[in-house]
Amino acid sequence: MSGNTRNDGDITHDPGERISWTNRPPISLRMDTDADDNIVKETDSARRESLIVDTAEEKRRRMETGCLHCHTQRYVNAFYEQYDNLLILYNEKFARPGQAIFNSLLAQGLLTDTQFDEEIEWTWFYLWHHEGRRARHRASMMAPDYTHWHGMFEVAERFYMELIPQARELIAEGLAHGGAEAAAASRVSKVVEGILARPEHAWFEQGAEEQTRLIREQMEDRYGQ
Ligand code: HEC
Repeated sequence: MSGNTRNDGDITHDPGERISWTNRPPISLRMDTDADDNIVKETDSARRESLIVDTAEEKRRRMETGCLHCHTQRYVNAFYEQYDNLLILYNEKFARPGQAIFNSLLAQGLLTDTQFDEEIEWTWFYLWHHEGRRARHRASMMAPDYTHWHGMFEVAERFYMELIPQARELIAEGLAHGGAEAAAASRVSKVVEGILARPEHAWFEQGAEEQTRLIREQMEDRYGQ
């Protein structure tokens, strides 16, 4: 894929030159890199621009020189649109909120500094490192079954059925202890409840009867059941 007629046959096996996202960390990052090839994490847009030497878009263009030997530009764009959207969904709906809850538990002293001696530490690791990475990598490799059923479906289950209940359990324990611990627990609670009040999570607490009815109608239409 690297050496081809559109880049003068310049062969390189450094895929980092062509990869537009890194899916290694809990939250996927755009591969905007600086002079030392490190990912630029600066969020102020002016400072960010001054640090970036090679953008994720430029990397993607280099990747596409390979794709376009066999596919049309529209086909390749459609792939990247799906890929970007999956990563944004994972990042914004589950990874950033999960990280925020986890960081808050740590910062407020509701977890020990020892890693993996508490259940929620395993839960969070499974969410981003196993199910979350599986979804993200398989989206990059065009594998729908692993993106959804072994990926996002399990991310969602882990988030709603384990991470949230376990965080609430730690909060309840903290509240029961009273004093400074209760104050710390209520700060974590604000983070958790703030996340669950967002439109994309509101169904979990408030119900979604109308949407469920519409989905059921569509299913009947399409599959007769
Ligand atoms: C050497 C030719 C070639 C190159 C280069 C190539 N592809 Fe493909 N691609 C194919 C062929 C052939 C298929 C169909 C395989 C099949 O149906 O079994 C395919 C399938 C696909 C599919 C559909 C997969 C699916 O499961 O439906 C996508 C999406 C895709 N390619 C995107 C890309 C992207 C993005 C690149 C560049 C990173 C790329 N391809 C590079 C030949 C190529």
